[in-house]
Amino acid sequence: KIQKVLATEILDSRGTPTVGATVILSDGSVGTANAPSGASTGKFEAHEKRDNDRKRYLGRGVKKAVEGIEETVAPVLENMQRVTVQNIDRMLIELDNTKNKEKLGANATLAVSLAAAKALAAHYKQPFFRYLGGTNAQKLPVPMMNILNGGAHAANNVDIQEFMIVPVGAKSFSEAVRTGSEIYHTLGGILKQRGLAVSVGDEGGFAPNLASDEEAIEVILEAVSSAGYTTDEVKITLDAAASEWTANDGYLLPKRGTKYTSAQLIAYWEKLCEKYPICSIEDPLGEEDWPAWTTVTEKLGKKIMLVGDDLFVTNSTRIREGIGRKAANALLVKPNQIGTLTETLAAVELAKENGMKIVMSHRSGETEDTSIADIAVAVNAGFIKSGAPCRSDRTAKYNRLLRIAKENEMDEMYGTGK
Ligand code: PGA
Ligand code: ZN
Repeated sequence: KIQKVLATEILDSRGTPTVGATVILSDGSVGTANAPSGASTGKFEAHEKRDNDRKRYLGRGVKKAVEGIEETVAPVLENMQRVTVQNIDRMLIELDNTKNKEKLGANATLAVSLAAAKALAAHYKQPFFRYLGGTNAQKLPVPMMNILNGGAHAANNVDIQEFMIVPVGAKSFSEAVRTGSEIYHTLGGILKQRGLAVSVGDEGGFAPNLASDEEAIEVILEAVSSAGYTTDEVKITLDAAASEWTANDGYLLPKRGTKYTSAQLIAYWEKLCEKYPICSIEDPLGEEDWPAWTTVTEKLGKKIMLVGDDLFVTNSTRIREGIGRKAANALLVKPNQIGTLTETLAAVELAKENGMKIVMSHRSGETEDTSIADIAVAVNAGFIKSGAPCRSDRTAKYNRLLRIAKENEMDEMYGTGK
């Protein structure tokens, strides 16, 4: 039985309020979880409830989301008969009773959903990933480490939001983390030597001003090689977050002022993929540009992953639409885009059944919460992106995976993205 459901207004990695939940079972088992928060949020994401009271936290407070948990959710869950993850999430969805969690807020429902699931894992004396995934959880994900930040996550002149390194050639998860860290520090050294800024963006990657996207990729490749790795061992991944570029009649890159039609943008990605060891591009096109997504998947889908983030928003209805249109071949999974653990797992299942790859993901606003690390292992996700190998809000997830690897002798059960 659930004895108590509590919620707290806490701070995220940007110093902005977010929702923390605690669920206590009658046997004393405790689960806690925090909601993350995006900056380049998709138009079709579940609702994030904010107070919009300018007198508190510049309008960004989450007091109403906290009150919703304490006044609407807690009394019902504390009287629940059969306490399971599915029943709790079904109840959250029923209590909210809107299309996109407009009433309670996905920040409220997700925090409770994850905290309750973790309390149940504690009750069954199992690690969270094992409780969720059972004996099927057999693989550690390949990290996509965001070492150079642009777009809405950095105050520099780079329009592509994320430049990530992917240690596909590592023999184990711990080697992958070491590879990422070595390249990150090497990159910092190179930037410093050139008199470029080594301040970091929201996800811990460096955020220098650069002449072009190509210069960003080239300086990263230089770091890969001077850290002693080949481009067979370490690939590049981009998150364009192109929904942010959507303009009236195509795309306008806000920082550089460059204009593209969908076709020109696709040609640009083709050119970059010809020239560089890119293994994946996330949101290469806008969230409503379905026909162009189909075209880019046709043209590049055999060679690289085309990952739908804002396109799918972890929403099974939108994933189904994508499958029908043959748009994208990989799913970015952000639990707060949909608002419950059960709906997140359903989205993953649907994508997998249709041959799509899975990339588990943090948000640019994060906390010390490590749920996504456990979920990634539970569903055997091919990849996880949790930012740079730097800053505790980012490394908490990698560190959790290192501990899962150690405690369960899984370090060498490393996916290599296959
Ligand atoms: P967000 O960025 O959390 O600011 O949406 C992450 C991403 O786009 O993948
Ligand atoms: Zn994205």
